[in-house]
Amino acid sequence: MWVFQVLVVFGIATVGKASYEKIGYFWHITDFHYDPRFSVRGDTKKGCWQSEYEGVSRAAWRPAGRFGDFSCDAPWELIESAAKSMMSRHSDNVEFVLWTGDALSHAFSHPAKRIQERKQVQLLQNLTDLLGKTFSSQFVFPALGHDDPMPRKELGRMWSRWLPTDSMNTFETGGYYMIERKTLKLQIIVLNTNLMRRDDSDDDAGRQWDWLNKVLHKCQLHKETVYIVGHMPPGSDERQRGSLAFAYTDYHNRRYIQLVRKYSDIIVGQFFGHLHSDSFRIIYNEGRAVSWAMLAPSVTPRRTTDGPNNPGIRLYKFDKDTGQVFDYTQYYLDLSSANKKGEAEWAVEYNFSSYYGITNITPLSLHNLAEKLTQYIPSDNPTFTRYYRANSVRIHNESQIHLCDLSCAHNHYCAITRIDYREHEDCLKTAASALASSAVTKINTNHIFVFLTNILRCIL
Ligand SMILES: *[C@@H]1O[C@H](CO)[C@@H](O)[C@H](O)[C@H]1NC(C)=O
Ligand SMILES: *[C@@H]1O[C@H](CO)[C@@H](O)[C@H](O)[C@H]1NC(C)=O
Ligand SMILES: *[C@@H]1O[C@H](CO)[C@@H](O)[C@H](O)[C@H]1NC(C)=O
Repeated sequence: MWVFQVLVVFGIATVGKASYEKIGYFWHITDFHYDPRFSVRGDTKKGCWQSEYEGVSRAAWRPAGRFGDFSCDAPWELIESAAKSMMSRHSDNVEFVLWTGDALSHAFSHPAKRIQERKQVQLLQNLTDLLGKTFSSQFVFPALGHDDPMPRKELGRMWSRWLPTDSMNTFETGGYYMIERKTLKLQIIVLNTNLMRRDDSDDDAGRQWDWLNKVLHKCQLHKETVYIVGHMPPGSDERQRGSLAFAYTDYHNRRYIQLVRKYSDIIVGQFFGHLHSDSFRIIYNEGRAVSWAMLAPSVTPRRTTDGPNNPGIRLYKFDKDTGQVFDYTQYYLDLSSANKKGEAEWAVEYNFSSYYGITNITPLSLHNLAEKLTQYIPSDNPTFTRYYRANSVRIHNESQIHLCDLSCAHNHYCAITRIDYREHEDCLKTAASALASSAVTKINTNHIFVFLTNILRCIL
């Protein structure tokens, strides 16, 4: 933004050209959850599958239409329409694409509904070909999700058009890699967050920590900047409570936070998917906001636990050299109306800067935004209303904001601002006890909310 201000003040054409050349775009797409068994003749209570996979009774609930259903994973037509929409927008001045995993349907990991691994790899090849055609002159950087097939050698071959040899070495052994961009300051690090999960993690996450430390150290020495990209974000799910809300083990979560704190001067962006929702995270060091992570919503409309979302894809505007993120545009498909019309018209849902009135994305500007989320009771808070509407990609309209009460709003706030599990728990407890006392004394909830927010601010 500073660049633009200079431009406005001096109006010098050469400055304009130089700054214009620095501006680039990249897409972030995530969680396709492609389900080849989707059929408009399927039963929505059974994943919208064709009858040859599940006996369909006469009372079956039919999907609303060919672009998908909120109870089901994505049909090919939905994914194809997203690709078409990306191609028609900016496909020429896009620098690269981040593709953060879970390309295939949830159902494949279900033992009874599994599709053979060979077939899964084939389906991933279909998606890879689609993206290859859509972005014929750009690189796509894929991150592994937990619902993706695991034979990394084969995936490496499949993605060899995008991954250089150096990246391929670590991808094939650990599923993580770095894209070294020789003439640019910005380097891209893609993590295998599957190694941070409960079930299959060792302390060094398949040497990922060791490697990550080394590459970050090297970037710091060379005065380079980095993006960290992965499927599952650290911290907790803003829409869930309890143990299901956490993806990483506590140990890996803490290591991640430590590392981001240590290298916060060079980490200029963290990008994740997995939760299917639109949100963000802030990492603090001794009370100061030092880094941020953006969570992009999914292409699949299906949400397993906390309600669905409209399909979304996101375009970032950034400084091609340093990686500084200026803004992003969230595109979405209004699924119900697309199904009604029989036509998928992806539209702008919002631009970050104009939506939230923030001219650049920094840890401090996001901290200030998060603090605004707690200023009033949710339904009286225009900033929270906007955030909440975007969170499910416009599933909730303005008149449904009351669905998110104080405790729901606090779950969002605590997830955004407390990545560490213990701090997150404390944050929720503080909220809960203030709520309980408000019930006893029947004080105006708005006062309690402001009071509670102040307590939280002091703790921070
Ligand atoms: C996926 O690829 C297979 C084999 O090339 C092909 O038969 C199939 O039609 C493809 N599916 C889609 C949806 O393009
Ligand atoms: C949002 O961003 C897109 C892409 O950069 C642009 O085409 C559009 O005009 C912007 N809309 C607003 C309201 O700023
Ligand atoms: C909001 O959504 C609900 C449920 O889908 C619907 O009944 C209501 O009419 C909508 N309100 C507006 C203002 O669109």
